[in-house]
Amino acid sequence: MVTDTVTDGPPSGVSRRGFLQAVGVGSSAGVMFATMGAMGLAPTAAAQPTAAAWTPPRGSDFSLTGRSAKKVVVVGAGPAGLASAYELQKAGYRVTVLEARHRPGGRTLTIRGGDSETDLDGVTQTARFDDGVYMNAGAGRIAQWMVTMDYLRELGVPYEVFTNANADAYLYNEKSGATPGNPVRYRTAKADVFGYTSELLSYATDQGALDQKLTAADKENLRSFLRSWGSLQADGTYAGGDNRGFATYPSAWNEHGTPLPGPGTVSEVLASKVGQYFPFEINWEQSMLMFQPKGGMDTTYQYFVRAIGKQNVHFGSPVTAVENTSNGVRVTYTPGHGRPRQIEADFAIVSAPAGLMRRWETNWGPSVDAALGEFSVGSPAGKIGLQYRSRWWEDDHRIYGGITETDMDLAHVWYPSYGYGDRKGLVVGYYNTGANARAYADMTPRQRERRAVEQGVKIHGEKYRTELESSFSIAWHKVPYIEGAWAYPDTSSSGFKLLQQGAGRVYFAGDWMSEISAWQHGAFWSARYAVQALHARVMAS
Ligand code: FAD
Ligand code: ALA
Repeated sequence: MVTDTVTDGPPSGVSRRGFLQAVGVGSSAGVMFATMGAMGLAPTAAAQPTAAAWTPPRGSDFSLTGRSAKKVVVVGAGPAGLASAYELQKAGYRVTVLEARHRPGGRTLTIRGGDSETDLDGVTQTARFDDGVYMNAGAGRIAQWMVTMDYLRELGVPYEVFTNANADAYLYNEKSGATPGNPVRYRTAKADVFGYTSELLSYATDQGALDQKLTAADKENLRSFLRSWGSLQADGTYAGGDNRGFATYPSAWNEHGTPLPGPGTVSEVLASKVGQYFPFEINWEQSMLMFQPKGGMDTTYQYFVRAIGKQNVHFGSPVTAVENTSNGVRVTYTPGHGRPRQIEADFAIVSAPAGLMRRWETNWGPSVDAALGEFSVGSPAGKIGLQYRSRWWEDDHRIYGGITETDMDLAHVWYPSYGYGDRKGLVVGYYNTGANARAYADMTPRQRERRAVEQGVKIHGEKYRTELESSFSIAWHKVPYIEGAWAYPDTSSSGFKLLQQGAGRVYFAGDWMSEISAWQHGAFWSARYAVQALHARVMAS
């Protein structure tokens, strides 16, 4: 099984201690210590995240062993399909990619001026965005530890910082608190929440409530941390301070700045529930720095197609059947709404959404079919891109990138992390999931725009309406050949294990076949594992 060959940890059945002892026998203390470090049992000078093992197939694997390179059909030109084709082709495999849609990238779709999309209801939108203005309708951000960064670098895709957290973006809860409807800046919300929780913890410490847990020295260290973390006064109380930000910032000649009104009482701050947004910033997938390819997320996949060779990637070619034959695979597709065609190959890697593959004609049997059913991608997510004739969020609100969080049906509002200083720009007016995404999906594009603007005005004021030029919205569960935003697999299920083995000469890839669904990183790793399994089989034959 592929999974047995890809971790750097102890082989299954060997305890961490037993593994260490085995390594320690006959080896130097230095090796032992380094190994302990790698296992997280000892500190290392610079603890690095351990990458899963990836041994890409190489051309020499064929030339040095006298084998002939094999032919592989890849279904889907999203991240998983294109990475599979790219890695195989680098080693000399002959690849053909079949993609149903008219462009590469799958759910990393970038909408630029002139782009048209027709949804499953037959509703067509054409983006009227200016040159240089774009909307990442699907994937938008990449964490620096993700393998996605490695592909950007390898392919030479230019990239820039994506601002996922901005102290000057807003938090806007209209459903909670005594004074709903007041946007508060992150920095102010943090100062108040940290301030009051520090005050309370400091008080509890002084009252002896933590005496069972802490020594006298611990308590002193905690008090000292809380004083600075919560900007507490000498008496241990919180009364606001510069960290909240200013109504007018300090300038010169005794202009000390005008403080913001507040803070509210501890009860008001707790009731506002703004603290619920803070964990996002330290979430392992979402914490800064994050990155984006310049010019739009799907730029990456244009580079992939170029590397693989345009002649090897067929767009507008939906696959309808994938069958194992006695010595290979046969794939049926229908190019450009013409007549069905068949292509024979030694192997296939299929990377379409799992639920959609169940509609194909296949002979991989009911258990594989049932396993695919566990991963049907149907969860909704939606976004709207609002092009504005001015960058009022930068000019008036002093927000350069980042995200405003709301408890409204908009959920998240994204300011652009590109085009600073340009005249125009695009705000993602909602990025929502679940019931909110379904509600917007059920509206016409015009109604979505109207609703999104109505809500956004509450946070940003009238320019949110008056500066608007055009919009484009997407409802992922209505996108043909995708039909959903993502699926979270139960990676401990027997179905997941079954799919890892492949079905005859067919291997499965896609973010849903990974430990980190809803990220390109997961799609890339699923591709690597499929490629690794396929290549191991070729080498063993
Ligand atoms: P897909 O991208 O879905 O590609 C599958 C391909 O198969 C598609 O091109 C499809 O057209 C094709 N296909 C389907 N049926 C057929 C057929 N019958 N014949 C031929 N081809 C077919 N990831 C990040 O890294 N960062 C983010 O910030 C991020 N945000 C996201 C936000 C949203 C709203 C969404 C929807 C996704 C986001 N993702 C993000 C996830 C990322 O887009 C996916 O993880 C990635 O695109 C999955 O790649 P894939 O190749 O597995 O599938
Ligand atoms: N990975 C997706 C995002 O970050 C869900 O928005």
